[in-house]
Amino acid sequence: MSSDLEELRRELDIVDVVSRFVPLERVGSNYRANCPFHPDRTPSFFVSPSKGIFKCFGCGVGGDAIKFYALYENLSYLEAARELARLYGKRFNLAGVKEEEKVRVALERVSDFYRESLLKNEEALEYLKARGVDGHTVKRFSVGYAPDSRKLAEFLKREGLLEEYLKTRNLVSLGSGNYRDLFLKRVVLPVRTPSGRTAGFSGRRLREDGSPKYVNSPESPYFKKSSLLFGLSETKDYAKEEGYALLVEGVFDVLKLFSAGVRNAAAPLGTALTEQQARVLAAYVKKVYLLFDGDEAGRKAVRRAVPLLLSAGLEVFVVRLPEGHDPDSFVTEYGVKALKGLISSAEELFSSLINGGRDSLEERIKLFREYLSYLPDDAKRIALAAEFQQKAKVPLETLLTPPKRRQASSSLPFKYKVLLKGLLSFRPKVRPEELELPKEVRELCYKALDGEEHELPEEVLEFNSPNLERMFYKVLEQLKKREFVREVEQ
Ligand code: CTP
Ligand code: MN
Repeated sequence: MSSDLEELRRELDIVDVVSRFVPLERVGSNYRANCPFHPDRTPSFFVSPSKGIFKCFGCGVGGDAIKFYALYENLSYLEAARELARLYGKRFNLAGVKEEEKVRVALERVSDFYRESLLKNEEALEYLKARGVDGHTVKRFSVGYAPDSRKLAEFLKREGLLEEYLKTRNLVSLGSGNYRDLFLKRVVLPVRTPSGRTAGFSGRRLREDGSPKYVNSPESPYFKKSSLLFGLSETKDYAKEEGYALLVEGVFDVLKLFSAGVRNAAAPLGTALTEQQARVLAAYVKKVYLLFDGDEAGRKAVRRAVPLLLSAGLEVFVVRLPEGHDPDSFVTEYGVKALKGLISSAEELFSSLINGGRDSLEERIKLFREYLSYLPDDAKRIALAAEFQQKAKVPLETLLTPPKRRQASSSLPFKYKVLLKGLLSFRPKVRPEELELPKEVRELCYKALDGEEHELPEEVLEFNSPNLERMFYKVLEQLKKREFVREVEQ
């Protein structure tokens, strides 16, 4: 069942709503006008009837028909919805709007609030400029600034959405009408779902002040870090067009590359790539280029990400950046042309292992055997093994068998590794207290469900298997059943 608000959104004709106030000119399947929200001499305001949205490429404002009406008539979003419904004779019951839907509206409105606040903050604007993020990128990604917790709370109160927004835990009530914004005094980047909905934020501090460099929205039903990729919403169309996506480690890498004209990069939010993120990527492209930092940590991240990408059916290309460089610093030092050169000369993963390169033959065989086991396509696996056999003179059998996984440093039993990695990757609705587990493992379960990756042992993070999902649910069943049986006996 869809909510009233969703239904209203679907039924409203945005072209009709906007043209009540602004004369629209048709261009192909869209419409354009001079933007009514900023002094605009060239028509930079666009309306897309098929998507039901408007967007100004001059000032960055955008949203649906309700949002347009709210801005134009200076109403809160929900008031605007009510008035539009009355205007167009649609059924709409404000009291019937689901809580969850209100939280989503609140997230969009907060993103607008930050976006507008950025324009008034010289220091933040300077910071972005110094980092090589251009105005177009700022608008496209709706980059913002979090000025003042009280102002944000007041804004939300006016919108009638304060209580709802607290559910995201991005804003915390301190009592006596005081609030604290998690992103206070930070440059704020909205993190959106691929379809463009604001799920939460990532905030970077402007200067070294002892606080964490980045703060991300806390895990919630609205913000599931393990399935979100920063930038994908803004870059997926370019990636589709190019036929490949670039996977980078940092959110500012995405912004810097976009500004430099490389518009197909996305990044996880400071955690290792997850299975869901790999699958999300695979919905848009067939090929992924990994542009991870050239240091030891970066190489480790590649080793961890590759199995997930292969399992998702993606073709993988590893771009080696010089030690100590991320894409952002590389472009600053050597220019975007040099980066494009690295990308275009990168060899596909398996052919680079087959044809040689920097690594020894022994090392390449080891990696080949491991990675090959993640390829979902049998025929392809055999063809690649045959190709390598010709070069390396290693028995086909050997190449087709994955090497024994390292067990040496292992202290957690296998099934708990499956459980924890599964909880981290799939975030199912599981209550660890209902599972039969040693106390330490249960504690780790809570951490995994909260996405607190840094709290989990390395052996869990490194654990990967093409059958993880199936094994995970099996383990879960086993651990649950016992509890269930015991309850029945009581
Ligand atoms: N990150 C985080 N929390 C931190 C540090 C980093 O969530 N305290 C995440 C951010 O999403 C960041 C990514 O991890 O983009 C990579 O971090 P790092 O390599 O340390 O920073 P950079 O991306 O290089 O950050 P910057 O260029 O802004 O200094
Ligand atoms: Mn960086």
